This record gives sequence, C-alpha cells and structure tokens, in this order.
Amino acid sequence: MKKGLIAAVTMFAVGAATFSVQADMSGKLDGKVEFGKHCASCHPDGGNIINQAKPLKKEALEKNGIKSWKDIVAKMRKPGPGMTKFDKKEISDKEAKAIAEYILKTFK
Ligand code: HEC
Repeated sequence: MKKGLIAAVTMFAVGAATFSVQADMSGKLDGKVEFGKHCASCHPDGGNIINQAKPLKKEALEKNGIKSWKDIVAKMRKPGPGMTKFDKKEISDKEAKAIAEYILKTFK
C-alpha cells in the first residue's frame, strides 16, 4: 500500500514536471513568429526592401556596428530613416530580444 502511494506521488511529480516544461516551451517567445509579424514586411529573408544597403545579414550588420542582440534592440527602439519605430508597448523587451536573437542566428 505504502509503495503504491509512493509510486503514485512520484508519477504525479514527474507528470507535473513534464507539464511545467511544456508550459514553459509554449509560453516561450518565438523570435521567428515575432519577426514575421513585425519585421518581415520590410526585411523578407533578412533583406531590406527599402534600403538594400542595409540588410540584416551578419556581416552587413557588423560593418554598421551592430554586433549583439542589444544593438538590434536599440535599432528597433531608435531606427534609422525609413524604418518603423517599435517602442516597448509594441514589442516588449523580451520579445525584442527573441527577435534579435533570431536575426543573429538566422541571417548569415
Ligand atoms: C517599414 C519598413 C521596416 C520595418 C517594418 C522594419 N524595418 Fe528595419 N530597417 C528598415 C530600413 C529602411 C532600415 C535602414 C535604416 C537606416 O538607414 O539606418 C532598417 C534597418 C534595420 C537595422 C539596421 C541595419 C544596419 O545595417 O544598419 C536593423 C537591425 C533592423 N532594421 C531591424 C529591424 C527589426 C528587428 C524589425 C522588426 C521589429 C524591423 N527592422 C522592421 C525598414 C524597416
């Protein structure tokens, strides 16, 4: 009887842990989706339809001093000519970071 109870409790604990991991995953921001929503209209595939000299490819960004996700977030908050400004109400800091990391790891 006691053993059965322990097994039941263990199974519950494992189940709960699995559930919380899944909840965390689904709650996690998807940089790709957010990029598609906010940025892809002007930056399809990491390009730039308005100013072709400023795509989101790693090398091009680095040339302009954009080396980390923080620099990309800074551009969203204070963009150059022709780009929409995204403030925290539009894109939270967390979302902005997810988008920036997606850009850095995706467009080479
Ligand atoms: C309305 C079109 C438009 C949208 C929407 C847009 N951008 Fe841009 N983006 C531009 C233009 C135009 C530039 C070049 C601005 C300049 O001359 O500095 C640019 C430049 C950038 C740069 C700097 C590139 C460089 O080499 O200097 C980054 C980073 C960037 N955009 C990221 C984003 C992200 C992230 C989003 C979505 C959250 C986004 N952009 C949405 C038009 C857009």
